[in-house]
Amino acid sequence: MALRSSIFLSFITSVKIRCPSTCSCSKESIICVGGTNVPRISPNDINSLSLVNGTFSEIKEAMFSHMQSLQLLLLNSNSLTTIRDDAFSGLPHLEYLFIESNQLETASKYSFRGLRDLTHLSLANNKIKALPRDLFFDLDSLIELDLRGNAFECDCRAKWLMSWLKSTNATVSDVLCAGPEAMKGKRLNDMTSLHNECTSTDFTLHQSVASESLSVDTFTYKNDVYVAIAAPNTESCMVMQWDHIEMNFRTYDNITGQSIVGCKAVVIQSLVFVIVAQLFGGSHIYQFDDDQSRFNKFQDIEVSKISKPNDIETFQIAGDWFFVIADSSKAGLSTLYKWNGKGFYSHQSLHEWFRDTDAEFLDVDGKAHLILASRSQVPVIYQWSRSNQKFVQQGEIPNMEDVVAVKHFRVKEELYLAMTRYIGDSKLLHWGAKQFVEIQALPSRGSMILQPFSFKERHYLALGSDYTFSQIYLWDAQEKQFERFKEVYIQAPRSFTLVSTGRRDFIFSSSFKGNTQIFEHIIIDLSL
Ligand SMILES: *[C@@H]1O[C@H](CO)[C@@H](O)[C@H](O)[C@H]1NC(C)=O
Ligand SMILES: *[C@@H]1O[C@H](CO)[C@@H](O)[C@H](O)[C@H]1NC(C)=O
Ligand SMILES: *[C@@H]1O[C@H](CO)[C@@H](O)[C@H](O)[C@H]1NC(C)=O
Repeated sequence: MALRSSIFLSFITSVKIRCPSTCSCSKESIICVGGTNVPRISPNDINSLSLVNGTFSEIKEAMFSHMQSLQLLLLNSNSLTTIRDDAFSGLPHLEYLFIESNQLETASKYSFRGLRDLTHLSLANNKIKALPRDLFFDLDSLIELDLRGNAFECDCRAKWLMSWLKSTNATVSDVLCAGPEAMKGKRLNDMTSLHNECTSTDFTLHQSVASESLSVDTFTYKNDVYVAIAAPNTESCMVMQWDHIEMNFRTYDNITGQSIVGCKAVVIQSLVFVIVAQLFGGSHIYQFDDDQSRFNKFQDIEVSKISKPNDIETFQIAGDWFFVIADSSKAGLSTLYKWNGKGFYSHQSLHEWFRDTDAEFLDVDGKAHLILASRSQVPVIYQWSRSNQKFVQQGEIPNMEDVVAVKHFRVKEELYLAMTRYIGDSKLLHWGAKQFVEIQALPSRGSMILQPFSFKERHYLALGSDYTFSQIYLWDAQEKQFERFKEVYIQAPRSFTLVSTGRRDFIFSSSFKGNTQIFEHIIIDLSL
């Protein structure tokens, strides 16, 4: 080919083009030593350009496009740290590209875009730690790639390169790992997998529902996923359904009422109910009517002892269905209701005169328990007595005044409680030998909810705040405590509810002063 002979000829032939003082030029080739810029001369038949020992730090977009006929470009021993996207655009015939002995730590994702004729590429003796995914995508003709003398970090960032090394037809030099510690000195070419899973997660806003809300509950019926949102400003329980085609939650039915504070769904065999708690006009149960695709009034709840419902909790004990309403008025009485096959009827009155804020049903060492949190005393623990079919007060959780919500969760069979307090510290407790022991305090700045939720092996806590961002914490399995993970802004958050459609996972955060926000839990591939 013409290129080879022209390189040798270039030194002897002197040509009549305006050659910069730092360069020697021939008809077909230019060599510049110690220059500071690319020669502006543009004869059509220059096919090789060498810029060595110069002080360039950056290859800008289309920097050589005035020398369209270049077949060889050598940029060794400059001070290059940056290669911009489309740096070599306008060079359709480029076959040899050498960028050796510079200071490159990486390259832009589209650095080599369009170099379909490139056969030889060398990035040897730089300081490359990682390269962006698919950097070599356009290099259809590549025969040889030299990456020697770099400092590759063989972590997630190298994952794509590891796979590419296996699939490419080009001959690639050894790609030696400089880190992490466990990989030092190994060849990326030999590896089949990297140490860690190379994924992280995030929460991104998926949808915003133009309504304030106090609580969100979810249920599944005939393979469809629904949510029931207590929306006091529209005086309704808004029922929404996941739309598999539009990929969002759409309005389905509205159960209207007055001063609705809670909507809780319970599916008993093939019957779907929504328990609607109201501050005024009593509380009611609605049943889903399959034929009309809407909810109809099913029954009133006896509420003689309930005056300010604050939370509804549904659960099953030994096959029987129950729900409990926590009452937060001074005169009220938290009450347990039981399903008798025809309706829900009051079964037991609990906890008199204590202004209960929340009820949490949980299994402790194989036995059914109920924890009631209240404004005026520490949380009390009830245990279900099988013999008299009632909850019996068993103890309390000391030093834990003024809890507004209590939620439980498990990490690898271990039982934990998340105790929400409005100001001061919310608390994380662990069930140890016969008692709950505090293991972590999380600063609360106007918190009405500290909600645990898990996606597969990742455990989170969402701590709402009325005065600043809400915090999402992520469980650190090694430290056995939660670390700050992400901040999200929600006006006056009142609940966080996990809603899963099977394929996609969402967190609904209700807001007492703004829109109800739906965040999606997404997996991020760190090797990108
Ligand atoms: C390259 O530059 C260095 C220092 O700037 C100098 O010492 C060396 O002689 C140069 N090499 C050539 C071939 O000009
Ligand atoms: C490698 O070469 C084979 C055989 O010529 C071809 O089928 C394959 O597509 C090539 N692979 C790549 C990644 O270019
Ligand atoms: C329910 O109420 C909301 C808010 O008022 C409204 O936008 C929506 O269309 C209603 N949905 C149905 C199914 O009636």
